[in-house]
Amino acid sequence: MEGIKIRKMVPADIVQVHDMSIKCFTTPWELNSFEYELSNRDSILNVAELDNEIAGYICLRTMLDVTHVLDVAVTPRLRRSGIGSMLLRSALQDLRRLKPDITLVTLEVRESNIAAIRLYEIFGFKEIGRRKEYYKKPAEDAIIMEMDMSAGNPSLIFH
Ligand SMILES: CC(C)(COP(=O)(O)OP(=O)(O)OC[C@H]1O[C@@H](n2cnc3c(N)ncnc32)[C@H](O)[C@@H]1OP(=O)(O)O)[C@@H](O)C(=O)NCCC(=O)NCCS
Repeated sequence: MEGIKIRKMVPADIVQVHDMSIKCFTTPWELNSFEYELSNRDSILNVAELDNEIAGYICLRTMLDVTHVLDVAVTPRLRRSGIGSMLLRSALQDLRRLKPDITLVTLEVRESNIAAIRLYEIFGFKEIGRRKEYYKKPAEDAIIMEMDMSAGNPSLIFH
């Protein structure tokens, strides 16, 4: 999308990012969760910016030898214009650069969240299991997805 810039999240973004998470999720993160992730050197947080407004954000964190996609959201009126893909691509590129030894990326997603599941599938994530009633408001199973970052994965698309 024209005019979209992806950059690292900074502390001054947190209030706007938190407001967006309230609009996007029934169980949004607390403000201090974003602060914690920003202070964690194993986390990658990027935002998408359009005309000086935050249009989306993503958070990944590496725990031991696995990286988790913890949060990704795009402001509702700008969805379906490629911003989610730009955020995921940028974060995975950062991960490859910062932690080249990491090969496994994992995440959970509501089973009804077709938009997110499709996005993850495009990047090579595959369902590997489920967690019963993992989510609240409303109660719902999580699909666990994994993606192999190692070279040779034909479904790993970095345009
Ligand atoms: C999931 C989310 C981040 C996707 O962001 P986005 O900017 O709309 O995604 P993109 O425009 O990059 O879409 C990439 C592809 O994903 C798929 N996709 C995205 N939204 C879709 C939808 N509503 N229905 C079906 N497929 C969809 C499509 O294949 C799309 O490619 P296409 O538009 O060329 O067909 C966004 O819908 C969102 O913020 N949802 C609410 C928060 C959320 O659920 N986050 C995930 C938590 S696990």
